[in-house]
Amino acid sequence: MNLELNEEQELVKNSIKEFAQNEIAPLAREYDEEEKFPRPQLESAAELGLFGMIIPEEYGGAGFDAVSYSLALEELAKADASVAVIVAVTNSVCCYPIATFGTKEQKQKFLLPLAKGEKLGAFCLSEPQAGSDATNIKTQAIENGDSYIINGTKSWVTNGGEADTHIVMAATGENNGKKEITSFIVEKESEGLSVSSVEHKLGQKASKTTEMSFVDVRVPKENVLGGIGNGMKVAFNSLDDGRIGIGSLAIGIAQAAFDESKEYAKDRIAFGKPIAEFQAIQHKLADMATEIEAARLLTWQAATMKDKKHKKTGIYASMAKLYASEMANKVCADAIQIHGGNGYSREYNVEKYYRDARITTIYEGTSEIQKIVISRGILKG
Ligand code: CAA
Repeated sequence: MNLELNEEQELVKNSIKEFAQNEIAPLAREYDEEEKFPRPQLESAAELGLFGMIIPEEYGGAGFDAVSYSLALEELAKADASVAVIVAVTNSVCCYPIATFGTKEQKQKFLLPLAKGEKLGAFCLSEPQAGSDATNIKTQAIENGDSYIINGTKSWVTNGGEADTHIVMAATGENNGKKEITSFIVEKESEGLSVSSVEHKLGQKASKTTEMSFVDVRVPKENVLGGIGNGMKVAFNSLDDGRIGIGSLAIGIAQAAFDESKEYAKDRIAFGKPIAEFQAIQHKLADMATEIEAARLLTWQAATMKDKKHKKTGIYASMAKLYASEMANKVCADAIQIHGGNGYSREYNVEKYYRDARITTIYEGTSEIQKIVISRGILKG
């Protein structure tokens, strides 16, 4: 078993670290406070090929392996989790399903510009009444000549209103008493598609999250993704991968919070010496470092399994997401504790990391849902 990064992975890590620290981190606070969508940062990220990281080069992607993808998202999230989630969603739940389930024509038309970073992607699964119980969606797509007409409301759409290409799950009928769900590729310009409200969130505030309304949105039949009735397969298969991305993102936030806490502990004087010399602080730092490392190894394991197309990748991706997101919340809380009163102030970054970490145990499947996926997988053997 080799736990060392190869030369290419080191190169990805170092180049994205340099980019993220120089071009994203200095702007993170301003964009967060103003809830401003980080277009200029995304344009620079596109130039580095960060929107189609795991997509083959023939479709405009960077052709990274999944471990490199994880490293890249960790580095982006260390600088700004908002930028990281925008990139992660386009990669894993928009590019990936088109690359995996799309026809040659769909890949040419939709994947190429997404992977090149010329267009932005979104994933429309959740609805006001259907979050964790994702199959309970009400959005309907009714066949009409050579098209489908979509009506419904989608919520918690990351990149809503900013994305050009949407992967949309809708019910196309019933099969053996079960809702038949199908995935569609829907373009931004489609008549009847609009943002019905914008969420104002606790964290990751520079990433845009909206509700999207579909009123008689006509989608040509050639935009059906993965075949009629395979919508949940497309959605869940994409989420399996997406969860490696969210695990990596959570590790990035935690690492940033840890790095700043370590430096703070060396500088901050209390009772006549740096607080890093007190065992109470040393133990906190030791626990934080250990748990970050454990999350990283679990996430790299899931990524390595994905590269090897291992059939249990989904279970390990859920384990990675579950562990890394819970860990990030704990590490960020400890980071504030180490900073004391200063940690509660916007003068220091740890309050932002704490806010940014909170959603990681919720989006792309809550911790409770990850436990369902993991337990189902292990009980199946
Ligand atoms: N890969 C492929 N297909 C899968 C699958 C997988 N990993 N998991 C399930 N499926 C298929 C099943 O085979 C089934 O197909 P059939 O109907 O043909 O048999 C279908 O999908 C439904 O599966 P289940 O019967 O297992 O569904 P369930 O209702 O029991 O739910 C669940 C299972 C694990 C709870 C699931 O609903 C789930 O993961 N919920 C969480 C949803 C989620 O993660 N939402 C996040 C939204 S995205 C987001 O956060 C926004 C963003 O932009 C960041």
